Amino acid sequence: YTQSARTKVVPTFLLLGPSGAGKTSLVTLLQKRSSNPEDTEPALTRTSQVPWGVSLLLPASVPLGSNKYRSRNDVSLKDKHPTRYVMIDTPGHGKLRTDQALSQIKNPGLRGVIFVVDASVLGSSDTSFLRDTAGYLHDTLLALQRQRTGKASGKTKTNIPVLIAANKQDLFTALPTGAVRERLQAEIERVRVSRSKGLSTVGQQPDTDAEEEVLGGGGEDKFSFKLMEDEYGISIDVVGAAVKGDEAGKGVRRWEEWIGGCL
Ligand code: GTP
Ligand code: MG
Repeated sequence: YTQSARTKVVPTFLLLGPSGAGKTSLVTLLQKRSSNPEDTEPALTRTSQVPWGVSLLLPASVPLGSNKYRSRNDVSLKDKHPTRYVMIDTPGHGKLRTDQALSQIKNPGLRGVIFVVDASVLGSSDTSFLRDTAGYLHDTLLALQRQRTGKASGKTKTNIPVLIAANKQDLFTALPTGAVRERLQAEIERVRVSRSKGLSTVGQQPDTDAEEEVLGGGGEDKFSFKLMEDEYGISIDVVGAAVKGDEAGKGVRRWEEWIGGCL
């Protein structure tokens, strides 16, 4: 018995990103905003170690992508209902990423990936945060690219868009979204170059599939988010907000709107 058309697949979003970026804080905030009476789990404050799927309701006032082509009168606020979706929170710790987080990319209901970054550390003189974040984002995008190109089972024809949630905009060291985009693109390019050097020295025979194993393909172009859109139809948006702090919740509406656009 396999997944049939009759089985209802709940639209699912996957929360990825390094440890401490604010994933669990975001899920907890969305739970409060969704006012879903079924959600009575207490807020988790510890570092996550296993994936945590939460049923949420998108507020009825958030526009849905599937309503885009309907006339305005068609979707009067009166008729609108909150939309149910599932968010999977994952642990960001380096040792848990492959098994507890990236493995969830094969979820049959997956509609989008939200990659949370801590914008307040990406511009730090200690570049380890930038390197770690870009390395994880590289691996995430490569996993999505393989889903589109791979011969392996689970290959998907649907586009899985990515939201880079530039969190902690309340902190004065936070980089604005344009700078977050630039730094991540430049650092991913470095990761891509060093990983593709590794690939070409490992095997004796030139590997014909090597291009598919390089993020963005094996072309001459420098890595950019636009390249992922052009080559693989994977759209990547960067939107800033603050989940906690003095400006708690500021900008989160725009993340909800991104979610709504995928529904
Ligand atoms: P892992 O479970 O280890 O992968 O981390 P996580 O991404 O779930 O991070 P978590 O939500 O546990 O947040 C880490 C810390 O960042 C906590 O102390 C939060 O209070 C804090 N934090 C989260 N969002 C914000 C924000 O927007 N602004 C500020 N100032 N702090 C935040
Ligand atoms: Mg967590």
